[in-house]
Amino acid sequence: MSLLDDLQWRYATKKMNGQTIPEEKLDYILEAARLAPSSSGLQQYKILVISDRALLEKIKLVSYDQSQITDCSHLLVFAAWDGYSDERISSVFNYIMDERGLPHQTMDGYKQVILDLYERSGEAWQAHHAAKQSYISFAMAIAAAAEQKIDATPIEGFLPEKLDELLNLTGSGYKSTVILPLGYRETENDWLVNMKKVRTPKDAFITHITLADASSSVELPTPMNLDSFVQKSE
Ligand SMILES: Cc1cc2nc3c(=O)[nH]c(=O)nc-3n(C[C@H](O)[C@H](O)[C@H](O)COP(=O)(O)O)c2cc1C
Repeated sequence: MSLLDDLQWRYATKKMNGQTIPEEKLDYILEAARLAPSSSGLQQYKILVISDRALLEKIKLVSYDQSQITDCSHLLVFAAWDGYSDERISSVFNYIMDERGLPHQTMDGYKQVILDLYERSGEAWQAHHAAKQSYISFAMAIAAAAEQKIDATPIEGFLPEKLDELLNLTGSGYKSTVILPLGYRETENDWLVNMKKVRTPKDAFITHITLADASSSVELPTPMNLDSFVQKSE
């Protein structure tokens, strides 16, 4: 099966059957999520894994009563940083430098450039930027689940502030962004299972363009190469 076959197979499962997924498949999906790229490699999000039935019952109540929350095997909750700080960024960069055997100051110049940009952009932008990164990991988890023939329903339909309270995320520096129940479809009771997968037609979705289609009146800035702010070792 190719990735495209897997993506055709998957759908936003509306009814799950409560069966538990094998531990190795759960690990595989989580590893795909962990391997996702993120802006500046900060991995400014984490995943909470929940299979506790009593907790899932409560989460369902803050998720518009969506049945997948309690009929899934495991629920993944993606939670992203609520903002950026020197301390947070340094802690990740220092870890990466330690893993690569490089001095911490290697990233100092680069860190300053992104910190300045983040500070100028404001707190709401920062939380939004971090949340966007978590969706990349979320998409990787969805694709990996499809490859493993595990059903997954992407869910944004929940009350994030209530969920944060329930999971003790409030004040922790993280905010829930999106959730993903993993499990198996209950084919006979799922109205969506046999529906055609519909997407925007290719010719409306994809446009190949050249310089002739671009604006010629934009004043372009002097090139700035972010790589030049990383201190290169000899
Ligand atoms: C970010 C995001 C949030 C979504 N939220 C919900 C949701 O709360 N409940 C639900 O049943 N489906 C939800 N969906 C599923 C979409 O409706 C579905 O992916 C879309 O209609 C395409 O259908 P398909 O995934 O079955 O191919 C969400 C999808 C995404 C990507």
